[in-house]
Amino acid sequence: MKFFVDTADIAEIKDLASTGLLDGVTTNPSLVAKSGAKNFISLIESICEIVDGPVSAEVAATDYATMLKEGQRLAKIANNVAVKVPLTEDGLKVCKALSDDGTMVNVTLCFSPAQAILAAKAGATFISPFVGRLDDISMDGMQLISDIVQIYEQYPAITTEVLVASIRHPIHLVESAKMGAHVATIPPKVIRQLYQHPLTDKGLAAFVEDWAKTGQSILDAA
Ligand code: E4P
Repeated sequence: MKFFVDTADIAEIKDLASTGLLDGVTTNPSLVAKSGAKNFISLIESICEIVDGPVSAEVAATDYATMLKEGQRLAKIANNVAVKVPLTEDGLKVCKALSDDGTMVNVTLCFSPAQAILAAKAGATFISPFVGRLDDISMDGMQLISDIVQIYEQYPAITTEVLVASIRHPIHLVESAKMGAHVATIPPKVIRQLYQHPLTDKGLAAFVEDWAKTGQSILDAA
């Protein structure tokens, strides 16, 4: 399963990329606003220099003609830009046009299996179903992931990857992996939670203490 980080914060991206476990980045207009960046194009350029994998950059317009122009502009920033478009009729028209031209497209704001089928037909590189936002309205976000994975598996010709979005905690990630979702875009805080287990901390503390009792040093050993 590929791990993307869901942030526009350059310092966070650099830190997480240094682990060697990061396969890509997703941004959205809210995350860009939160980052405080004043030049969106430069921001995406910088992220693309840090991470080799796909970097999602979202269009701001909602009409076909302007979204297409914005998408073409964003695609020129770097080869690893994935243009992010909303799951609307115009958004999917833009998806088809950009995909036909060889640009990676991430279709965002997907909340139903029917929408995911449309995105695949429009040639999306990624479909982004939002788990947490469905949970927030008392619907089953994970069921949506399961449905989309199952549907896509019926059609070997579909190349669209299921990119699980709006992840709120490690269980969302683990359940998505069990279902065979291709990618998860994860907030930095949740990525760090993945490392944690109290028994790991407890076990390590005991090993460190016991090793000290041996009085040895691996690096000084003859
Ligand atoms: C996906 O690409 C979105 O940026 C993101 O996952 C949305 O998450 P949220 O529901 O926590 O805002």
